[in-house]
Amino acid sequence: MTELADPSKLLYKAVTYQTKATPLALTEESISLVKANGSYNVSTDDILIEIHSAALNPVDMLWHRASNWMVGSNQKTLGRDYAGVVAKVGANLSGKYSVGDKVCGVITEKFGIGTVAQYLVLNPTKNPGIVKVPTDVKLSFNELAAWPLVLNTAYNMLELHGATKPVGSSSNILIIGGATACGQYLIQLAKVAYKVKTIVTVNSGSADDFVKLLGADYTIDYTKHKNIAGPVAKIVQDELGGEKFQFVFDCAGNSDLFPKIDNVLKSKKEGSAVVTIVGDKKPDYETYTFTHALSLGFIKKNIKSKLGLGSLNYSFSMAGPNAEWCKRAMGLFEEGKIKITVDSAYSLEDFSKAVDRLATNRARGKVIIEVKKDQV
Ligand SMILES: NC(=O)c1ccc[n+]([C@@H]2O[C@H](COP(=O)([O-])OP(=O)(O)OC[C@H]3O[C@@H](n4cnc5c(N)ncnc54)[C@H](OP(=O)(O)O)[C@@H]3O)[C@@H](O)[C@H]2O)c1
Repeated sequence: MTELADPSKLLYKAVTYQTKATPLALTEESISLVKANGSYNVSTDDILIEIHSAALNPVDMLWHRASNWMVGSNQKTLGRDYAGVVAKVGANLSGKYSVGDKVCGVITEKFGIGTVAQYLVLNPTKNPGIVKVPTDVKLSFNELAAWPLVLNTAYNMLELHGATKPVGSSSNILIIGGATACGQYLIQLAKVAYKVKTIVTVNSGSADDFVKLLGADYTIDYTKHKNIAGPVAKIVQDELGGEKFQFVFDCAGNSDLFPKIDNVLKSKKEGSAVVTIVGDKKPDYETYTFTHALSLGFIKKNIKSKLGLGSLNYSFSMAGPNAEWCKRAMGLFEEGKIKITVDSAYSLEDFSKAVDRLATNRARGKVIIEVKKDQV
């Protein structure tokens, strides 16, 4: 922490941008502290976190690309996921947090604060995706930063699918994009927390062993098929004894199944659902924008499903952290039931290499920025 001659200011480095026209840059920022009871602190409802590790998500690139005139040209910091240590505690939070607490989480604020920074001032009430890491959870800061957004996304899909029956032991589920970071947690949660009957995943052949280790029962290599509808139907017939899927979870943006989805998906009456976090098109991170998902087919499916028309229960799931899910995740980490995968780690100075790695769409697990090197 660089304390200035003016003790009310804290200087730190962060990866920032103002609009989609300004490139990401490592800049020097400052936090204003307030004097209370003879010392300088954050505001009453905030905590100051010294970040050790931050993880990148595709949405970080999306927010940057989406920063047009409507969101203003204020300084914005990259990143949503973080792990670090509490450095200051606002007066109203003194019973809840202490200096030295290890914390991790995902921030919900979008066009302002970010986590690829040495310090983060956070209002925990406005950011429910914060967790105080129990001492029994023996994870590194890199690992602690690698799960919050994607694991909450997986819980969102498994819990808020809108089907009449929950995900459970009688469910066959299909995960398209099983090797994506979100898919990895879907597989593991479905297996250990929801105890589903069968998990079929769609991934490249190179990820086959990886997803099977996580819990996939059968896999389909999308690189070997122009359209996955045929191989999915074959698995239903050959491996599932003709029993269709109750849930299709799409983390890759694949619409191959829709023309004949009744062949592989149970009826809405039987409690089925299709949940996507991407839409109908595979994202190309170079040209990725907010509108990439908005094909006519995607809009039609959404409207029809919302109006209760047709036989398909379909929804687009938006990640929102949930304190209860974060708590459950900590329990699973503590018991060693969920594996966290880090693809690669870069220093703060090398942030652009981390962004490039994420943009390849080939990362297996999270791309991490080690903001503070002394990892524990
Ligand atoms: N709506 C929401 O709330 C929300 C939240 C989080 C993420 N998302 C979106 O969900 C998508 C996944 O995010 P993520 O962070 O989990 O991704 P990620 O980890 O960055 O995805 C990388 C993985 O994608 C797999 N992949 C690449 N092309 C594929 C394809 N055509 N079909 C299947 N798998 C493919 C690759 O594995 P292989 O070896 O199998 O190719 C690679 O390991 C992104 O589009 C992201 O924007 C949405």
